[in-house]
Amino acid sequence: MSKSDDVGYASYQNESFKGEKLIYPAASRNKEPILHVLKRFIISDTDTLNDESPIFVEIASGSGQHVAHFAPHFPDVKFQPSEVDENLLGSISIYATNCPTKNILQPILLDVRNNLSCYGFEENSIDYIYNANMMHISPYECTIGLFENAGTYLKPEAFMITYGPYSKDGVITPQSNIDFNISLKQRNPLWGIRDINDLVKLAELNNLSLIDTIEMPANNKTLVWKKN
Ligand SMILES: C[S@@+](CC[C@H](N)C(=O)[O-])C[C@H]1O[C@@H](n2cnc3c(N)ncnc32)[C@H](O)[C@@H]1O
Repeated sequence: MSKSDDVGYASYQNESFKGEKLIYPAASRNKEPILHVLKRFIISDTDTLNDESPIFVEIASGSGQHVAHFAPHFPDVKFQPSEVDENLLGSISIYATNCPTKNILQPILLDVRNNLSCYGFEENSIDYIYNANMMHISPYECTIGLFENAGTYLKPEAFMITYGPYSKDGVITPQSNIDFNISLKQRNPLWGIRDINDLVKLAELNNLSLIDTIEMPANNKTLVWKKN
């Protein structure tokens, strides 16, 4: 597929409903390739949850499909979805409740521009932070908030994994992503595809390093950040 996978997210016109459960076509397509990457970075060695279970916090869960797809593959990891849009909490909640491995917590209403302490998280306490397709569809303050929170609330040496379209050295490729970026800016001048070089600088300010860049289908990338 050469067209950006995120066009479906930009319009929100392709979403479908199953009861109150939302299905984003793009999430349906990208959840399996992302899972393959997560399997390289998430340690899961038992079948059950306990007080010491690692916590995986998703920022901007959208429909809830991603955590629903990932959680059964890591039964000893506790997944905490979150969203700033309260209209999406119902869908995420249904996915969480229906999870066969019962390791998805109920979603929390969370704006990543706030410190995660506002939502009860302690500094150096989170094992994984995951964020897909938010940075380009939100003002840059949200990206800043994401990195500041990762730098503060991840445990030392823990990972933040981000997914979406990114430019490199100020260059967006291919043409479909250039067009997508134009359409984002038409919708909101504060939106737009973020450049990996800027993100690396932001990461350095927040005690994080980019340790892997993985090319994904539909001209997206997964970026893996590690807290120093
Ligand atoms: C394109 S959707 C991606 C949803 C999901 N992560 C996925 O990949 O299917 C972008 C999401 O970012 C969320 N978002 C925007 N601003 C946010 C903020 N300040 N804090 C948390 N989430 C935010 C929106 O509510 C929206 O659900």
